[in-house]
Amino acid sequence: MKKIFFLLAVVAVFICCAASSYHENDGAKPTLIPPSPQRSGDSARGYAYLTTGDFLKSGFPYDFFIAAKGKSTNYLGRDGKNANVDFGYNVVTIADSMDIVIPTCMQCHAAVFDGKLIVGLGNAAIDFTNFGAKAKQLALLKNWKLTAPRKYNAVKALITSMAAVNPFMEPEVRGVNTADRLAALLVAHRDPQTLVWSDVPLLDIPATVFPTDVPAWWLLKKKNAMFYNGFGRGDFGKFLMLSNILTVTDTTEAREVYNHFGDVLAYIRSIQPPPYPQHIDQRLAATGKILFENTCSDCHGTYGTDGIYPNLLVPGTIARTDSLLFRSNQQAKPFVDWFNNSWFAQGPNAAQLVPGNGYVAPPLDGVWITAPYLHNGSVPTIEAVLNSRLRPTYWTRDFDNPEYDYIQVGWKYQTRDQPDGRKVYNTTLPGYGNYGHYFGDKLSDDERKAVIEYLKTL
Ligand code: HEC
Ligand code: HEC
Repeated sequence: MKKIFFLLAVVAVFICCAASSYHENDGAKPTLIPPSPQRSGDSARGYAYLTTGDFLKSGFPYDFFIAAKGKSTNYLGRDGKNANVDFGYNVVTIADSMDIVIPTCMQCHAAVFDGKLIVGLGNAAIDFTNFGAKAKQLALLKNWKLTAPRKYNAVKALITSMAAVNPFMEPEVRGVNTADRLAALLVAHRDPQTLVWSDVPLLDIPATVFPTDVPAWWLLKKKNAMFYNGFGRGDFGKFLMLSNILTVTDTTEAREVYNHFGDVLAYIRSIQPPPYPQHIDQRLAATGKILFENTCSDCHGTYGTDGIYPNLLVPGTIARTDSLLFRSNQQAKPFVDWFNNSWFAQGPNAAQLVPGNGYVAPPLDGVWITAPYLHNGSVPTIEAVLNSRLRPTYWTRDFDNPEYDYIQVGWKYQTRDQPDGRKVYNTTLPGYGNYGHYFGDKLSDDERKAVIEYLKTL
């Protein structure tokens, strides 16, 4: 009998460890993330800067870009040449008065949903799996060095950094984002004090590519720290401008760009989540609110005019979701040290990275539209977040004609029996796990339905 117990215990430990790579129970508790002072600004100016501003000074010559890509739908209702390019690009005029096209935040932070552009919604359809092929095409523009030196000067910084990060950027599946990786790779090529580019990497480049989902911008106004593990502390503007290191020349440029980011922060904080567009059963939602406040609010807060968001970092031992992002990526010492000794961490508006062993319990405003769920986008619907038995191990969705499921709340998806390359989300891969967050499992089906109905009202 004893022996059987022992065996069961071994099996239990094995299952636990196979399912979750971070399982030590160190007795850690959710901890409060303290607020930091932030700059104020003008949200209209911030929006104008995001949609027309020159926070990169290197990009594609406008004529070349239009010839290659054609004109795009003018979702942002912009004027002039900006009216012709996709919402993920701005047309700006550089020093030698050439008009160039630069990629913007909206590549990742805006998405078309039901025919409408939603600024601040993470782009859950982005395809980084063909990053290498794209970067190789861009590398061909090096030929301009001899044939078209003015054009070459305009695009040089962009293609240089793209070529340097190219071999290390591709995730295993479409729809997840590797921007964290981009940041880590780019800083490896920059002097922390001067930000000047070095062709030779100055830091070791870590091997693994980590997938993330892109958080919605409208959540930032409640947060005391940025990023999934809450390691972005101090001045948010310094993090918001970070994609400027794609092409920045020096700290004079960085300072000029940074000056706009009080306004950008004001704009991001002004964004409201889109209301759920279909009928909500208000009585069921009222039942769900009570259940939510008893089961979920300790971590996710309360909502409405007197709502309180607790700003908690929840230890990995409690959240039990895939820990690779906070353990390996967001604690990568060379990256953290680079940042904390860099231009970004200095001066009166200093930012700092403070790694921790867990994830922020995010505000759930507008959560109905932000599928897929969890930090790695491993769970396609809210129903499956709240009932772990329903989470598909291998799943795929239609990126060309995406369809939303307003009942399970999330993307319509198909389950697969086995992995199938980059078309299928494979939750057995490191970093892609869909385990953890078992807090909804103990609810009955009816209770879960009520909680989901309530979540639609947020
Ligand atoms: C290549 C894609 C990409 C681009 C371009 C990009 N971001 Fe992000 N952004 C991300 C990803 C991925 C995250 C989540 C990273 C994490 O938390 O680990 C993120 C996080 C954020 C957050 C949310 C922080 C939080 O915790 O809620 C804000 C705000 C943000 N980015 C602003 C910007 C701004 C402003 C720009 C342009 C100047 C920009 N981003 C450019 C991908 C991108
Ligand atoms: C102990 C704290 C805690 C409790 C209790 C908790 N959550 Fe969470 N929740 C988290 C954390 C931490 C995350 C982020 C995990 C990750 O991304 O890996 C999260 C993520 C989520 C997400 C995904 C958000 C997104 O955009 O990806 C949803 C939805 C959610 N929780 C709903 C609930 C509901 C509903 C309840 C109650 C039944 C609940 N949670 C209870 C901590 C908690």
